[in-house]
Amino acid sequence: MNQRVAQYWSGKSVLVTGASSGIGAAVTEALAPFGIRFGLISRREAPMRELAEKLHNSGSQFWIKSCDVRNRNDVEAAVKGFHQHAGRIDVAWINSGVGGNTSYRKWNWDLIESMLDTNLKGAIYTTHACLHMMVPAGSGTIIGIGSASSMRGMPSRGIYSATKIGLAYYLQSLAAELPQIQFTTIHPGFVDTPLNRGNPNRFWLQTPEKAAQLMIKAVAKRKRV
Ligand SMILES: NC(=O)c1ccc[n+]([C@@H]2O[C@H](COP(=O)([O-])OP(=O)(O)OC[C@H]3O[C@@H](n4cnc5c(N)ncnc54)[C@H](OP(=O)(O)O)[C@@H]3O)[C@@H](O)[C@H]2O)c1
Repeated sequence: MNQRVAQYWSGKSVLVTGASSGIGAAVTEALAPFGIRFGLISRREAPMRELAEKLHNSGSQFWIKSCDVRNRNDVEAAVKGFHQHAGRIDVAWINSGVGGNTSYRKWNWDLIESMLDTNLKGAIYTTHACLHMMVPAGSGTIIGIGSASSMRGMPSRGIYSATKIGLAYYLQSLAAELPQIQFTTIHPGFVDTPLNRGNPNRFWLQTPEKAAQLMIKAVAKRKRV
């Protein structure tokens, strides 16, 4: 096991949003050997409970809350609840997100509003609620999941790209304001999860397990991007 990774993560209190599936579940599994106090958040409680059950011998502890990150009051209550339970929040893994085709010809306001509300506003609500705990404590780590799609506007993915570049700039701006907090923005390429299984053009596809290992190493190296 990489010593830097073990040193960084061991015993931390980690909030993961979008823990019911894909990258969030894989990151939880990758971190479980480090004796983590997890706060797992997503709308579907059952898969998070199954994950905690699968990892119950890992040495980590699991606090689970069903929460829709599009609702600011619910996010604030969930973050407060986990902080009260764990005593502190060392790391917030801001991962909840939705994808989909937002081409001009297939314009669907329901999908578009939901994407903006989940990927951008939900991420801002969660980050702000966690900073409310971390800034007075004088330390903490915020990890934002952007996307390679934020590097340039791709056909049919404009709204998704806009949410991800918006998140990246929001976190970059906070990093300039709050030097006591570590901000790491991760821009994954294609990872094999339900989010993109309908997309026939996935290339350089990575498994969630491999992606999670690369991500937890990058955070332990305190990379900004
Ligand atoms: N897969 C890729 O290739 C890829 C590439 C770049 C970036 N990403 C980003 O990685 C993150 C994780 O995606 P994934 O690929 O792991 O997809 P996924 O398997 O579909 O997981 C998405 C997660 O987000 C949660 N979520 C969605 N809407 C939510 C809401 N309103 N409130 C709370 N949680 C919500 C889902 O949980 P519930 O449905 O239970 O709420 C689920 O746990 C996303 O931000 C995505 O944009 C993925």
